[in-house]
Amino acid sequence: MSNEQQPRLYYPSEEMVKNAAVSGMDAYRALCKEAEDDYEGYWARQARELVEWKKPFTQVLDESNAPFFKWFADGQLNVSYNCLDRNVNNGLGDKVALIFEADNGEVTRVTYKDLLARVCKFSNALRDMGVKKGDRVVIYLPMSIEGVVAMQACARIGATHSIVFGGFSAQALRDRINDAGAVALITSDGQFRGGKALPLKPIADEALGMGGCESIKNVVVVQRTGGACTMVEGRDKWFHEVCASQAETCEPEWVDAEHPLFLLYTSGSTGKPKGVQHSTGGYLLHAILTMKYTFDIKPNDVFWCTADIGWVTGHTYITYGPLACGATEIVFEGVPTYPDAGRFWKMIQDHKVNIFYTAPTAIRSLIKAAENTPTVHPKNYNLSSLRILGSVGEPINPAAWEWYHENVGGGRCPIVDTFWQTETGGHMITPLPGATPLVPGSCTLPFPGIIAAVVDETGTEVPNGQGGILVVKRPWPSMIRTIWGDPERFKKSYYPDDFKGQLYLAGDGAIRDKETGYFTITGRIDDVLNVSGHRMGTMEIESALVAHEKVAEAAVVGRPDDLTGEAIVAFVVLKGARPTGEDAKAMIKDLQNWVGHEIGPIAKPKDIRFGENLPKTRSGKIMRRLLRQLAKGEEITQDTSTLENPAILDQLKQPAG
Ligand code: WT7
Repeated sequence: MSNEQQPRLYYPSEEMVKNAAVSGMDAYRALCKEAEDDYEGYWARQARELVEWKKPFTQVLDESNAPFFKWFADGQLNVSYNCLDRNVNNGLGDKVALIFEADNGEVTRVTYKDLLARVCKFSNALRDMGVKKGDRVVIYLPMSIEGVVAMQACARIGATHSIVFGGFSAQALRDRINDAGAVALITSDGQFRGGKALPLKPIADEALGMGGCESIKNVVVVQRTGGACTMVEGRDKWFHEVCASQAETCEPEWVDAEHPLFLLYTSGSTGKPKGVQHSTGGYLLHAILTMKYTFDIKPNDVFWCTADIGWVTGHTYITYGPLACGATEIVFEGVPTYPDAGRFWKMIQDHKVNIFYTAPTAIRSLIKAAENTPTVHPKNYNLSSLRILGSVGEPINPAAWEWYHENVGGGRCPIVDTFWQTETGGHMITPLPGATPLVPGSCTLPFPGIIAAVVDETGTEVPNGQGGILVVKRPWPSMIRTIWGDPERFKKSYYPDDFKGQLYLAGDGAIRDKETGYFTITGRIDDVLNVSGHRMGTMEIESALVAHEKVAEAAVVGRPDDLTGEAIVAFVVLKGARPTGEDAKAMIKDLQNWVGHEIGPIAKPKDIRFGENLPKTRSGKIMRRLLRQLAKGEEITQDTSTLENPAILDQLKQPAG
């Protein structure tokens, strides 16, 4: 290979290496070796050093009921105790835990002592309502202090929370409440985004009225916008009222390490989202360990993860990880483009953020904004406080990486491109800032203690330089424990028979570099799309489309998109005639709104095409590979001889209207 073809490596500065928790590649390799030589010993050491246990564990990994693995099973602890009481007891009571910046710019600081008091009050309120250990509580809240408080309060009393992202529809909320059998729902009257007050409780009311939510006995409503809100007598209560008279102390519920801390629903390759179940002990351990190694968190750092608490990133790197490390973090209610697209940079400047963690899709949209409006370019802001940058949710294209590195990180901040999933609880493959030489677009090497590999269909490792299927060879502490209510689906999805039930299947393709062994993620290998870092099952969108009274059949595929990574393209057959012109345009709007209402705005197809039929084989199977080519606007190069109805391709070539 000539020099030009070698990607440029970005090495950490000497200072970064010197001060980092994992200092240099030798230190990284030593940790990996420690884990290879004594896997359980490595994780047990970390768990003893980083987590405060009420009852220390004596067992480490229990593989007796594989793939339902257990970690630290005879240990007992409480996550909220580890995040709050522990810090207060260690003299951090007056330290700021959360800096909440509202959509309108208003800033509220909450100290560890205050946060503990707020969490205790709400914990007591939940207990008064009869919520107890093991009950499921659905949280449907915008980014807010109360969102973090509600999650921590559930953890404190041993209730299992299940957050539903505030952008999801009534139907999605209803399905998740129903699947989890939740006893309580925590929501708010509304939320502020981009200067507008949007309703939330009315959507919750719609969900509760659909039938199937009878398990909900209490609805707690945070007052945020002051918007109209119908309160059902006996069931609905205001958050501030239920907390008002409660004590500021609350004995935590000590739970077993395997106790389910939370469920989080995510898309799979079938129409029904999966309730990913996480543990208490193993999950907390990895949240802390990754804060320490990947983000190199230091006592005086201000940490900002821009994710929403509705996604796993917000769980691990807002509600749990930073607090368990006694850090100061930002919780941001608004959007990156309001009042202008310099909002992120201004907030980094104002709060002197040291570690900034965001998604490629946000970076790409801010690049575009900075190109169009020079005043919102990051160079107009003082970003010198930044030490480490992070990226998550989708592959980051090298051009966006370079821009982020240069213009946000001033060329001096390592970018940790963290590959992980809802199911993995925390980072799996990621650079460590004071060790790993960086290659733009590569998530580099496995986190110490994570044994990842690229294999073929038989589960055999492929040589570096050859693409394949990403797997994890050993169970790890923060991994998914099961799919709520569906252990068979858990086995089938993640420990398939193809790999003799021995390898965790991530669902992504990957390739390792010939020289460095670095991993690059090549995208999902199942029918799951990644739109702006959000995971969407194509079948979920198809189900939503065919639920429309005028739709006979629908097939959904992804297409690469400069801004959102992937864009949703839907091929639709209507019950009546194939619409054209203005009719088609109106129908597209109608269907987009319909999907937005059925699932949520993030699921709206960007492009909808109408055909009298879909391209099918003679046995009636939809030829999705053809649809993917059509969606990209490519000429059909593949063999179409098995196609029943080749004429249909012309109809589907162009966007309708
Ligand atoms: C899927 C998981 C991880 C929290 C947010 C998303 C993709 C995630 C990266 C990355 C390339 C990535 C994968 C993965 N993904 N991070 N750094 N590089 N791809 O969690 O919704 O469970 O989605 O996101 O395809 O499987 P999620």
